Amino acid sequence: ATGSIDITLKVNGTTKRVTVEPRTTLLDALRERMALTGTKKGCDRGECGACTVLVDGKRIKSCLTLAVMRQGASITTVEGLAKGDRLHPVQEEFIRHDAFQCGGCTPGQIMSAVACIKEGHTGSDDEIREWMSGNLCRCACYPNIVAAVKAAARRGASW
Ligand code: FES
Repeated sequence: ATGSIDITLKVNGTTKRVTVEPRTTLLDALRERMALTGTKKGCDRGECGACTVLVDGKRIKSCLTLAVMRQGASITTVEGLAKGDRLHPVQEEFIRHDAFQCGGCTPGQIMSAVACIKEGHTGSDDEIREWMSGNLCRCACYPNIVAAVKAAARRGASW
């Protein structure tokens, strides 16, 4: 397309050169240019959290940021959490606690949970609910999500 540009993104430890338009969101670059479709597109306007990824360890909604602005940053998507065939503790606890139904919000919930735990916002159920409130779940699995985050936090859930 006219005005396409080549940029370099570091995703899950791998550096890749991709061609995007200046207005391409990080979300679309991940899904459409890098085939990393684990990151979900829900609302595409910052309201649902399905597109949450980590950028330099901080959670962001990837539909609200442009790919060109994230060159040089270290991006982690849900595909980058497992180590070989060992799931990340947060992934394990989401399964153990049935913290999803349709799964549409789950990658975003999990990425947000990883950051929430790292930020230390897991002192109580209320605190978890508050700091996970940017991630909506249409199936209303909230109690199970809170239970999963709490359990993962208790395990000191990071690699
Ligand atoms: Fe980004 Fe909904 S798709 S917040």
